[in-house]
Amino acid sequence: MRRIERLLAAMTLSEKLGQLNMVPGTRLVTGPGGHRDLGEGISAGRIGSVLNVWGAEQTDALQRSAMEHSRLKVPVLFALDVIHGHRTIFPVPLAEAGLFDPDTWEATARAAAAEAAQDGIALTFAPMLDVARDARWGRIVEGPGEDPWVAARFAEAKVHGWQGRAPDSRARFGATAKHFCAYGAVTAGREYASVDVAERTVHAVYLPPFAAAVGAGVFAIMPALTDLAGVPMTANAALLKVWLRARLGFDGVIVSDYNAVTDLCRHGVAADNLEAAVLALKAGVDIDMASGAYVQALPLALERGLVTSRDIDTSVRRVLRLKERLGLFDDPYQRGSRAAQDVLQTRALARAAARRAIVLLTLRRDVLTLDPALRRIALIGPLAAAGREMLGPWAAAGEPGEAVSVLEGLSAALPNCRIDCLAGVAIDGDATHEIASAVECCREAELVILCVGESASMSGEAASRAELGLPGSQRALADAVLAAGKPVVVLLFSGRPLAVPWLCERADALLAAWFLGSEAGHALADVLTGQSAPSGKLAVSWPRAGGQVPVFYAQRPSGRPSDETEHYSSRYLDVPFTPQFPFGHGLSYARIVLEAMQCVPAQVRGDGEIEVSVAVRNETNVGGEATVFLFIRDVVARVARPVLELRGVRKLQLGPSERGTVSWRLPVEMLAGLGDDPEPLPEPGLFEIHVGQSADPAGFLSARVELMP
Ligand code: NOJ
Repeated sequence: MRRIERLLAAMTLSEKLGQLNMVPGTRLVTGPGGHRDLGEGISAGRIGSVLNVWGAEQTDALQRSAMEHSRLKVPVLFALDVIHGHRTIFPVPLAEAGLFDPDTWEATARAAAAEAAQDGIALTFAPMLDVARDARWGRIVEGPGEDPWVAARFAEAKVHGWQGRAPDSRARFGATAKHFCAYGAVTAGREYASVDVAERTVHAVYLPPFAAAVGAGVFAIMPALTDLAGVPMTANAALLKVWLRARLGFDGVIVSDYNAVTDLCRHGVAADNLEAAVLALKAGVDIDMASGAYVQALPLALERGLVTSRDIDTSVRRVLRLKERLGLFDDPYQRGSRAAQDVLQTRALARAAARRAIVLLTLRRDVLTLDPALRRIALIGPLAAAGREMLGPWAAAGEPGEAVSVLEGLSAALPNCRIDCLAGVAIDGDATHEIASAVECCREAELVILCVGESASMSGEAASRAELGLPGSQRALADAVLAAGKPVVVLLFSGRPLAVPWLCERADALLAAWFLGSEAGHALADVLTGQSAPSGKLAVSWPRAGGQVPVFYAQRPSGRPSDETEHYSSRYLDVPFTPQFPFGHGLSYARIVLEAMQCVPAQVRGDGEIEVSVAVRNETNVGGEATVFLFIRDVVARVARPVLELRGVRKLQLGPSERGTVSWRLPVEMLAGLGDDPEPLPEPGLFEIHVGQSADPAGFLSARVELMP
């Protein structure tokens, strides 16, 4: 603290604003004199942090500008979007969320932090915590899916993984919870579009993951690029200053998104950079990423009395505190070393996480696991030999050459099987002339593995899609291959659920292969060969048609609850109201059943606890993993509650014919809606408790509990 106050007292206005100024570099500038502008800016105290530069050589060179040439020797902070891995790439977050396993969520963040720190990075712009219920929105890939309770658990695990668990420890690496908030609700799923959701929904759905991140001690928060009912998040004092800072007590750094301060002009709430900078600073945004508006406009704003030196000092103090928390003052240069052993361990973790993220969506015929006696496989489709694509849309420092394609993974797993690989069509585009050869290839094989879906760049930022089908000519390829009369296993690659009902009906087996990262091909081979049992579940409901979105399980009942047999009910004429696959769906080679649910007591008081348990039995002679979800429903409340709300997930490994039990102790507060507004406490009355292996009510065991006044 003393160091910070000493520095603050010594700083000129320009040096203070430098600390609030984050400037982009690029990875590609190398050699002597590379990043000269950045180096000069840092030496002059005009730049406090840098994004998009990594690699110890480059970060150390720039750091010397601060530590050796600047007046006050305040270390520079290097930040990067390390989203799902740094050099070793893990499954995209939407896929990783489907493990429903906080330990793995934490472990992959920890491993990525170690790799990134070694490359000079001290802060990541992750975890992305936007609840997303609209598959058109490309950024659905970056977050934990549709459910706020899951997103909150994901937030805690990721913050602990990135930063470590000790409170205010010398974490050396910091996390940024983003994008605050409700970005997932952009109008019509269109990237960057306006968001207009009810305040109640903001509190019950979009804020709980951020509250969880703050509870876990996250160092930084990034406001969304979007506006919320007309107030851009970068200038949203009500949520940033009042909710986040005053109510939650968040004392970390708020870093704007890229150019977001200047973008306030384009939003139509500021006339120029001066007004934009004032709005953002006054709302509590400490660091201006890339726009330069703070440096340019705050001196004049100060002169005119639009901001005070106290406003500026408060933000500078927070930035210096972040640098201190990260240990940068004592250890400003590259940290850690990349021992060979670490690399192997990290790759092993990537493979384990990837195979557990694979979701077996359908299994219509007995085509899995692959018969070890197979002699010839046709591996068809534009994603069959596409290592680079496996890394997904945020590959950080991931090297395409180090990513394992399906072809490579299968070839390693099945050395005695001939694998003929043919793309047939490009991922996108009209050309169909190779389809005939692909069909020919299928006819000569015993089994076809069809690899179709999106390219990595079709999801992520600025990658919304209005149609949720297969891009380009892939449907034509799939139709032809499916008509060839051979068993077909389909691997579907995507950063979002795709609406492909025809494929679900016709594939003999269909697996969601997402973008699984560096070890994708090995992980897929592990599951296809039965080396590992499929255990991934959907963290997001999977639509039948684009017109169903947003489709999610936690809908309110409405006055005309959905019922296919009732004309005047909440449904469609042309498509069922249910999703293709519900939240939590994911088959296994084992058949696991739930039975004998117990829920006690039947009546409970406000300070009580409910104990729920259920027996789990594997009916088959192969092992598998059970994932059991616990949902609640508040049957009658003054404000209608969703038909289902998730409150717990348990996982259990079961050997052949094995039995087990999972249980929960639920404090009564868990019956309340999430969020702190407007009603944090449950109202007395009747509640339903449901346990199931997905959000499909057909598989539920249920009980009722009465909350006494
Ligand atoms: C824009 C994105 O919205 C954000 O998620 C990211 O962290 C920044 N760019 C920095 O790359």
